[in-house]
Amino acid sequence: MKMKMSFLILITIAITAYFSSLVSGYDLDPMQDLCVAVQDTNHSVFVNGKFCKDPKLANADDFFASGFNESGMPTPTNLGFAVNILNVSRMPGLNTLGISMARADLEPFGLVSPHIHPRATELILVLEGTIYVGFVVPDLRNPFKSRLFAKVLNPGDVFVIPQSMIHIQYNLGTTNATHLSCFNSQNPGVHMISYQLFGSNPPILDDVLVKGFQLDKKVIEHLRAQFS
Ligand SMILES: *[C@@H]1O[C@H](CO)[C@@H](O)[C@H](O)[C@H]1NC(C)=O
Ligand SMILES: *[C@@H]1O[C@H](CO)[C@@H](O)[C@H](O)[C@H]1NC(C)=O
Ligand SMILES: *[C@@H]1O[C@H](CO)[C@@H](O)[C@H](O)[C@H]1NC(C)=O
Ligand SMILES: *[C@@H]1O[C@H](CO)[C@@H](O)[C@H](O)[C@H]1NC(C)=O
Repeated sequence: MKMKMSFLILITIAITAYFSSLVSGYDLDPMQDLCVAVQDTNHSVFVNGKFCKDPKLANADDFFASGFNESGMPTPTNLGFAVNILNVSRMPGLNTLGISMARADLEPFGLVSPHIHPRATELILVLEGTIYVGFVVPDLRNPFKSRLFAKVLNPGDVFVIPQSMIHIQYNLGTTNATHLSCFNSQNPGVHMISYQLFGSNPPILDDVLVKGFQLDKKVIEHLRAQFS
């Protein structure tokens, strides 16, 4: 009897150890770009800036949004695209669900310039027009080379951009083009490469950009003027 009891205890300890090792085996993915620890709770926000509503007070409108039959705000650049974003600010019920959406409208030869979504894979469905989409990944054999995966999409075509890959969407046609993007994060984030590198405040040291991109210093100044 005593023997059986200690065997049982041993099994229990082994199972507990196994499951707690599963639980503590990895960190959760970050849900936003920056989350610096702070003592003063008056100057803090919850992850994504949102607390949760008392579930008893939730209603259908928390899970509803409209306005995606129209294009969004044009981006303040001459790239020629507008984006209409469905995020937790517009649909409070999205909070913690790990999903969001955007509608993008591109003018003829409009471009969503090279960018990254650090926290989401993106599924692109073309609704109208002809859009060239593609992403690059480092070549497995040589990280100083890269491979491009690109397609020309027409209405009804779908392309997927794996999480964190540099990618572009370009309207190849002479008419407006529209696509829907779905993200597996409520806060996918967007890092526009040229704006991040040439428009940063404070600016990145000239020599870093000169060497990093093998460009003349004058070209760096020109790029700074475009992207700042
Ligand atoms: C936070 O704000 C409350 C109310 O405004 C105030 O009473 C409290 O002292 C503040 N706490 C800190 C740490 O500043
Ligand atoms: C989009 O739908 C709204 C109603 O939700 C309507 O008022 C608006 O006119 C529609 N826009 C277009 C371009 O059809
Ligand atoms: C939601 O999208 C709007 C429009 O782009 C943006 O201003 C806002 O910061 C976003 N909110 C969150 C919580 O991501
Ligand atoms: C194309 O998009 C532009 C800018 O969003 C808009 O002003 C224009 O009316 C659109 N053209 C058509 C035919 O929908």
